[in-house]
Amino acid sequence: MCGIIAYIGSKSVESVILVCLTRLEYRGYDSAGIAVLNNGELQVRKAVGKIKELEMHLQAHPVTGNIGIGHTRWATHGEANQINAHPHTDSQKNLAVAHNGIIENYYELRHEMLGKGYVFHSETDTEVIPYLIEDKMKEGASIEDALHHSISRLKGRYAFVLISDRQDKKLFFACDGSPLIYAKGENDVFLSSDIPAVVPLAKENYYIRSGEWGWIKDDGELVLFDKKKSPKTYETHQIKIEAKDTEKNNFPHFMLKEIFEQPKIIRSIIEKRICLDEAKVLFPEKESDNSYLGRLSRIVLISAGTSWHAALVGKHYLENIAKITTEVDISSEFRYRNPIVSGDTKVLAISQSGETADTLASIYEAKAKFLRVIAFVNNTYSTIAREANAYVDLLAGPEIGVASTKAYTAQVLHLILYASFLSEIRWVSKKEERKKLYSEIKKLPEQIEEILSQADIIKQWACDFKQSKDFVFLGRGLNHATALEGALKLKELSYIHASGYAGGEFKHGPIALITDQVPVVCIATKCETYEKMLSNIEEVKARKGKIITISSKGDEKTAKLADYNFSIPECIPLLSPILNVIPLQLLSYYVSVERGCQPDQPRNLAKSVTVE
Ligand code: F6R
Repeated sequence: MCGIIAYIGSKSVESVILVCLTRLEYRGYDSAGIAVLNNGELQVRKAVGKIKELEMHLQAHPVTGNIGIGHTRWATHGEANQINAHPHTDSQKNLAVAHNGIIENYYELRHEMLGKGYVFHSETDTEVIPYLIEDKMKEGASIEDALHHSISRLKGRYAFVLISDRQDKKLFFACDGSPLIYAKGENDVFLSSDIPAVVPLAKENYYIRSGEWGWIKDDGELVLFDKKKSPKTYETHQIKIEAKDTEKNNFPHFMLKEIFEQPKIIRSIIEKRICLDEAKVLFPEKESDNSYLGRLSRIVLISAGTSWHAALVGKHYLENIAKITTEVDISSEFRYRNPIVSGDTKVLAISQSGETADTLASIYEAKAKFLRVIAFVNNTYSTIAREANAYVDLLAGPEIGVASTKAYTAQVLHLILYASFLSEIRWVSKKEERKKLYSEIKKLPEQIEEILSQADIIKQWACDFKQSKDFVFLGRGLNHATALEGALKLKELSYIHASGYAGGEFKHGPIALITDQVPVVCIATKCETYEKMLSNIEEVKARKGKIITISSKGDEKTAKLADYNFSIPECIPLLSPILNVIPLQLLSYYVSVERGCQPDQPRNLAKSVTVE
C-alpha cells in the first residue's frame, strides 16, 4: 500500500524514479509524485492518477538532479487529489517526505503543530512529519537530530524517505513496521518498498528493520541507527530476482502471465519439497523441534482475502491428513476477538506479500499469548517472515498482478504438503498413503497445462458475461473455498457483483437471487458431495439461472445439465481445489478485459495491504 522509492546515482534521477514507480504501481495508483534536489534546490512534482500522468506532467515541468524520492499512493487519509499526493514538504519547502503506512497519532500531532502556527495544506497523516522536523530544526537541531526526535513522536506503522536542501548529498529514512529496503548496484543506490522495483540496477540489498533510521551518503554508504540512536551494523545480501521475473514477457498483463506460470511453479515446488522414494516432504526452513509438532493439539490458520481462502482449504488438509483440530480465522478478526488459546496451539499465518498489516497484527497478538507462529510467505525477507518464529517459502516468484493467482495455488499446495509432513511426525499416516498422495501431486503440472491449453473456451464465454450484473458461485467441501475465491476474483477484477456460497447453504436464502439473468458457477468435480452439487444444479436450472459447470473430464451427466461446461482432468478430490480454481482465474481475467477494466490494477485496490 503506497510505494516509496529514493535514489542517489549517476543516472537521471527523474527517469530512474519513474521506472521504479511504474514497478511499484501495484502498491497503489491513486496519485504519484517526485521530489528532486538540484544544486541545493528542491523541486516537487505531483499528479493525480497513474504514473503515466506524472510522466506527462514531468514532460511539461521537467526536473533534473541525481538525488530524489518518489511515491505512488493508495489513499488512506484524504481523497486522491494533487494536494494529498506525496511528497509532502515543510512550510518553507526545504524538505520533502514520501511515506508508506499510517501515523496513528497524526491528529494529536497536527493539533499541536496548528497551535504553533503551522498551516496544513493536505488532509494526510504524512504532513505532520516534515513539520515536526522543521519545528525541531527551528530550535537549532541538525536535520539528523530533528529526524531522530521526530520519529520518537510518531505512533503507527511507517516507512518514509526524506530529502532536504540543507543536506543535498544525503537521503534520509526511517522505518517502523512498513517495508523499506536499501539496495545498491555499481553506481546506483536506492531505498525502495520492494526489490523488483530496483532490479537489474541493484545487485545487493539490506531489509531495514523496524525501529531503524539513518541516511545514505552520496558514496552509497548506509549509516544506520536504532531508536536510541546507537549505531547499527548491517549485512547486505545478493539479490536473486532477475529482471525477467518482473516483466510481462509478451503477455498483455501480469495476471495472465502469472496464471500461465502455474505449471512451472507447481513443478518446482514439487521438485524442491517432495522426496517420492522416501515418501517424505522436505521443509528445510521448518522449526527443528519435531517433538513439539508431534504434541500440538490445535492449529489456528490466520490470513486475509485470497490467502484466507487458501486457509479454508488448508483446514480440510490439516484435519483429514494430519488429524489435527484446525480453526481458520480472518486476520483482522483474530486480532480483536481475544481468542482462547493454550500452549499446544500453533498459529499458521499465510500471506503472499508477507506485509499484510492485519495478518502481522494477529501474529503480534498470537506471540503476546506465547503461541508459536509459522508463516507461509512468498517473500522470505518480508516483515511477517521476520516476525514469525519460523517461515515457509511459498516459492511462487514475484507476483505483480494485484489479484493473487499463482501464490494461491502455491499456498494450497504447501498446505497439503505441510499437512502430510505433520501426519508423518504425528504417526497418523502410512508411508504408502503418503507415496500415493505425492504421485498424484506430481501429476498437477501437466493437468494445469491441459486446463490452460483450453483457455480460449473461457475467453469466448467472457463475451457472453460481460454485461452480467450478478454472479453466484457454488461449491461444497474443499471447493466451497474455490467458490469464494472465484467470486472474489470476479468482483475485484470486473466490478460485477459476485457471491460464493456453500452449495448446502444455497437453499437457505441465496437461491432467491436466481433469475434467468444470473450466471451460476457450479463446481461439480467428482468427490463425495458430487451428487449433492448435481441437486444444486437442478435447483438453479428449475429457476432458469444460467448454469456454468466446472466438472470432471468424462462426466457427461454434468456437462449435459450445463449451459457452459469446462472439464477438469481427473484428480483425487483432495487436489481438486488447485485445478478447479484455474478456469475461475481465467474467467475473471477475460471478463475484466472484455469490460475494459484493468486486471493488473483494479480500482481502489493495492497489492500489499499495509494498513489495518
Ligand atoms: C485478492 C488478493 C487479496 C490478498 C489479501 C491478502 O486477489 O490478492 O485478497 O490475498 O490482501 O494478501 P497477502 O496474501 O499478501 O497477505
